[in-house]
Amino acid sequence: MNNHNDIEIAAGLIQKGKLVAFPTETVYGLGANAMDPLAVARIFELKERPSFDPLIVHIASVNDLKKLAGNVHENVLRLVDKFWPGPLTVVLPKSKLVPDIVTSGLPTVGIRMPKNDIALMLIKKSGCPVAAPSANKFGQLSPVCAEHVKKQLPQTDYILDGGKTEVGIESTIVSVNGNVCSILRPGYITAIDIENALPGTFIFDILPPKTNIAPGLLKSHYSPKKPLFITSETADVLPSSSGLILHSRRNHNCKADKVIYTSVNYNYTEIAANLFSALHDMEEDEKISRIFIEPVEETGLGIAIMDRLKKAAYQYRATK
Ligand code: TXA
Ligand code: MG
Repeated sequence: MNNHNDIEIAAGLIQKGKLVAFPTETVYGLGANAMDPLAVARIFELKERPSFDPLIVHIASVNDLKKLAGNVHENVLRLVDKFWPGPLTVVLPKSKLVPDIVTSGLPTVGIRMPKNDIALMLIKKSGCPVAAPSANKFGQLSPVCAEHVKKQLPQTDYILDGGKTEVGIESTIVSVNGNVCSILRPGYITAIDIENALPGTFIFDILPPKTNIAPGLLKSHYSPKKPLFITSETADVLPSSSGLILHSRRNHNCKADKVIYTSVNYNYTEIAANLFSALHDMEEDEKISRIFIEPVEETGLGIAIMDRLKKAAYQYRATK
């Protein structure tokens, strides 16, 4: 765990153009000074992230939103008033201050204020907005503890250890166009939460299949290094060296080499919080060569959980 001194050191490194991994309430981020194009370029290099995939800029004060975004619609202000600090990213027309490398050349920028004291203190002490994608290699499992970052990105200059993250899946990304709000990536904040915050607004929560506005919408993403299969038939005898992830602690006849429960009884908040760590555990276990996971119903937070699972799953790659 961290003390103020660690955060001071980390902020000093950010100011010098170095990369610092830090906890947020969702997943760990790999941060750099968003105003320093060279430092941001190192994020893409270290993550092996394609240059077309823009980064989210993290801020600690709503004033920075107004500096980084050209034009902030009143509906955006309503959303950030309700959900910040928290797991909501707003995509807005960018101001000239934001370097093009951050947004992959897009005229818009994704901005969020994380709900995590270490993250907020790091941003404040660094004295600059912090560009940060999730701190994993591109396409692989998102990190929910410092060890996951060390495993995938050992070259990171400094890792702030804040223990396991609370929410466990990434922020909801929205773009607001007057009275129309589009959900570009489902996350912890659901379409219903947004609808309640913006009465009278039209919410698009399913984008047309060919749209690829947020590269998080790529079909394959968040994947473990072992084949992952989504299956509701958990009473089967699984092939040898199989791991099984279930979302309720119950008696079952399934013969698996290892079973992990993400929740006691299908609590979606618990499932989201434990999803990536269960997948990391299976990935790290040498006895396991394939992973089976049960699906959840695609309602509320279940939409974001299934979004991550389908992208991580072997059987969905390239075919669907
Ligand atoms: O919870 C989170 O959002 C975490 C923590 C670290 O804040 N961050 C995160 O970043 O998930 P990343 O880079 O793994 O995913 C960000 C997603 C990408 O799919 C990217 O395409 C999308 O945000 N994005 C960023 N800027 C965008 C923009 N201007 N327009 C559309 N999509 C954008
Ligand atoms: Mg990511």
